[in-house]
Amino acid sequence: MDAKYWDSKYETEDYVYTKLVNRFVKEYCEPLTPGTAMDVAGGEGRNTVWLAQQGWRVENIDFSQKALDKCLSFAEEEGVAGFVDTNCSSALDFEPNETPVDLAVIAYLQINQADLKTAIKRVASHIKPGGHLMGVWHSRDNLEQSFGGPRDPEVLPNPELLAEYLAGEGFEVLDCRNRDGQIQTREGLKPSVTAVMFARKLG
Ligand SMILES: C[S@@+](CC[C@H](N)C(=O)[O-])C[C@H]1O[C@@H](n2cnc3c(N)ncnc32)[C@H](O)[C@@H]1O
Repeated sequence: MDAKYWDSKYETEDYVYTKLVNRFVKEYCEPLTPGTAMDVAGGEGRNTVWLAQQGWRVENIDFSQKALDKCLSFAEEEGVAGFVDTNCSSALDFEPNETPVDLAVIAYLQINQADLKTAIKRVASHIKPGGHLMGVWHSRDNLEQSFGGPRDPEVLPNPELLAEYLAGEGFEVLDCRNRDGQIQTREGLKPSVTAVMFARKLG
């Protein structure tokens, strides 16, 4: 799915992924001391704005300009626009405005696995020693065990693959596993498996 697809998906007044921070992003990032952050594939900015509200200076790097425009409006609404920067670029070859950073978040970047590996390695290279990487994805294990998310296994990592992509980049993996979530379906709440990776750069 290219940037055009995402621009047209976001061409609505509504916030497609809501304005509410992802619960795993909140859980892992809330205890950290605010500094500089990048939200890679940050979309309409639910996590970017939440981080800014916690005192982080955040760059949302996404290849959809429409997403970034909505992120900035949301940040203005919340009075944190001064803490938010946007960068319309691909996760595969972006050049951040600020580097290295204390924290990088990647939430639901569901792209083919070769590209995801490239993106993770690129993001990892822009994190300071002692800084953190927090990522969250619909898990490949969701396909068999649960509901929601993409159905193409190629865009679904699992914890083993995520740890493999980060290997060799100088990180201590603090947590990398499937977590249970729930999604709303027409038949009510159903289980959903989410892959989460939280790691700290050594040094
Ligand atoms: C499912 S949305 C998630 C948005 C946001 N992280 C969230 O949790 O609300 C996926 C986002 O990834 C972006 N994206 C997909 N492929 C990308 C790529 N190769 N480079 C940059 N952004 C990409 C899309 O534009 C979209 O905003």
